Amino acid sequence: MTHEPSSSHPLRVARARQPLSGAIRVPGDKSISHRALMFAALARGETRITGLLEGEDVLRTATAMRALGAAPVRDEAGTWRVTGPGVGRLSEPEDVLDMGNSGTAARLLSGILASHGLTSVMSGDASLRKRPMKRVMDPLAATGAVFLAREGGRLPMAIQGRADPAPLDYCLPVASAQVKSAVLLAGLNAQGETRVEEPVATRDHTENMLRHFGAEVVVEKTPTGGRIIRLKGRPDLVARDIAVPGDPSSAAFPLVAALLVSGSDVQITGVGLNPLRTGLFTTLVEMGAALEITNIRTEGGEPVGDLRARASALHGVDVPAARAPSMIDEYPILAVAAAHATGPSRFRGVEELRVKESDRLSATVALLENNGVRTTVEGDDLIVHGTGGDIPGGGQVQTHMDHRLAMSATVLGLVAAQQVEIDDTGFIDTSFPGYLALMNSIGAGFWI
Ligand code: S3P
Repeated sequence: MTHEPSSSHPLRVARARQPLSGAIRVPGDKSISHRALMFAALARGETRITGLLEGEDVLRTATAMRALGAAPVRDEAGTWRVTGPGVGRLSEPEDVLDMGNSGTAARLLSGILASHGLTSVMSGDASLRKRPMKRVMDPLAATGAVFLAREGGRLPMAIQGRADPAPLDYCLPVASAQVKSAVLLAGLNAQGETRVEEPVATRDHTENMLRHFGAEVVVEKTPTGGRIIRLKGRPDLVARDIAVPGDPSSAAFPLVAALLVSGSDVQITGVGLNPLRTGLFTTLVEMGAALEITNIRTEGGEPVGDLRARASALHGVDVPAARAPSMIDEYPILAVAAAHATGPSRFRGVEELRVKESDRLSATVALLENNGVRTTVEGDDLIVHGTGGDIPGGGQVQTHMDHRLAMSATVLGLVAAQQVEIDDTGFIDTSFPGYLALMNSIGAGFWI
């Protein structure tokens, strides 16, 4: 069951009484976990996945793939086997596909459903039903698939897919790896070449994993920092094992907590370091963070390393808009770091935050303002006026069904003078099951 606010888990967070210390691992990468389950279903044979994130979002994808005729089986924690019917061979789901809270699941699956000759209906929880699907419906309609959605392109949505979809040639109007991936996934079952152009590079897990399964994917960098991706249709995808690295977007929370709580020294091992995901780490180092990255190796086609973060006096930072796609999920926790830092920080071009699990721009502003930290929004830029370590706190935080807002609020509470009251921490399970307990294992002292 998706967590709904009717069963909310409120939490009061008090200032940390001790430094955070210890070595931890964070759960598997959410983006890679969704893709592993979906792509394995499109490959011939049995794929073994280790390190799979078993958060609610990814479990939604597992359930959906089962409804489409794949057979994901859980052997033990994080270890799954998937037998794929293969590209073009999925079967029609008998009931509505409920994607819960997950935009990634809904958008990527749209590409798969549009390119199969079957009819399906997709829905999600109250947060997902508010999020824009037009960004995938518009390009995917050019395959010949027919979409029927609610006003403004919202879920629930019906899709009548095409067994012989036309290949797409599409230039992304927004920097979105989800839209890019939906178009590429539709291209798997199309005759000929699918071409996607992205003006700004976004996470490339889809390209990497499709290649891993044997697809021909050619990527060309443009002189202005973008990419052109070409996929040859109807590849013979063959099952291959996948090791999912720790999620850098989840590592962000214990990492920032360690930087802010005085005297802390925390190691996080086995974290994914795909360069299109590490904008937060670059930014924190620019702010003066004592952040070391060691033991860099390649696992399952993705770079992985160990992080060590020690408490640091951070200063304000100016984050360029071009960096946003490589840290798009990290702005709420970066805003907490900026609130603790000395001097102002400016996050440029963060308009995409408005269409995440919540309107993360206004929710992040409210998180800080309600706890005595000044912010300014100028156009699509967010400015956080750092307190130099004196965050008053004492506020109430509304998380709006958004896991990253909830985790950011817990870190804010660890360094605020007065307790921070969070309305609901239940949604944390969508991406980081066991977060509160893991943080307590390094000394956070959450009352759970
Ligand atoms: C994701 C892409 C990003 C990110 C999301 C995961 C993905 O969304 O915010 O959490 O796995 O492709 P957009 O593509 O909408 O930017």
